[in-house]
Amino acid sequence: MSSVTRSETLSAATIREWTRAHVLVSWSEQGRLSPIPIVEAHGSTLRAADGSTYLDFSSGLINVNLGHGHPKVVRAIQEQAARPCYVTSSFGSDSRAALARALHEVSPSGALTKTLFTTGGGEANENAIKIARMVTGRHKILTAYRSFHGATYGAATASGDKRRWAAEPGIPGVVHFFGPYPYRSPFEVAPEHEAGPALRHLEGVIMYEGADNIAAILLELVPGTNGVIVPPDGYLQGVRDICTRHGILLIFDEVMTGFGRWWGSEHWSVVPDIMTFVKGVTSGYVPLGGVSVSPAVAAHFDTRTLWAGLT
Ligand SMILES: Cc1ncc(COP(=O)(O)O)c(C=O)c1O
Repeated sequence: MSSVTRSETLSAATIREWTRAHVLVSWSEQGRLSPIPIVEAHGSTLRAADGSTYLDFSSGLINVNLGHGHPKVVRAIQEQAARPCYVTSSFGSDSRAALARALHEVSPSGALTKTLFTTGGGEANENAIKIARMVTGRHKILTAYRSFHGATYGAATASGDKRRWAAEPGIPGVVHFFGPYPYRSPFEVAPEHEAGPALRHLEGVIMYEGADNIAAILLELVPGTNGVIVPPDGYLQGVRDICTRHGILLIFDEVMTGFGRWWGSEHWSVVPDIMTFVKGVTSGYVPLGGVSVSPAVAAHFDTRTLWAGLT
């Protein structure tokens, strides 16, 4: 059995063999895998060890927004690696302060002022749920059935599709509802008429769950892995109005929709109370995500501990 140091390059056969032997590959039946060894990536082109090239139509997992191997990003990472890479959370660092400031400046209508950083989207959504529960003192979280919010325990519970089942019974207090789905409307109306019945359905769920028990509605702007479902005009504004009326916080999961036009929510001019992001913020070069919050949400923690954190 040979061993390897980081500076050695593995042969294609070894990459395939060791991946099959030692890597648990997500969302896959392991025995059926035959991983293609990728040895180079530039822009939107991946080159495999046998010389064949692949056009990366999905930008990785819809996260490599800037393309692979962008020289400016590589240089920035190299420069940052020579500076303090980690300071304990109660200290300050210029990179964290500058990124938090930049995120505020580009946030929807400049309305989100503070950010808690995470390393991934599932963690961001779980922290958003915790923050909403701490701020409102309520425990229920409403999310759509056609949604994916991450694979960690709480985020998987929040997800509506079948990737939730493996995490069940999951965290308590998550309730699912049906959002608009123009392809096969659960409300049996034409796509352009879906907003009204979808909002009435949501109001009905809120009535039976008790508005005073509901901390937040967590929504993907355009449900991504459930079919890229663009909501009908009026739906997101309607959800915003329902939340405001009932004192429910609106969390937008911009993990997939963020960093195009800055945020998916800009297409409908709807501003959330809390927003989560990951993927495009680093274009997949390093793991980073976060939860940005409004001044009203942030103010809650001026005099109370934020019971959240990661190393
Ligand atoms: C909308 C959405 N939310 C959350 C996640 C989870 O992000 P992560 O894989 O970084 O935990 C994903 C991942 O694809 C996603 O598409």
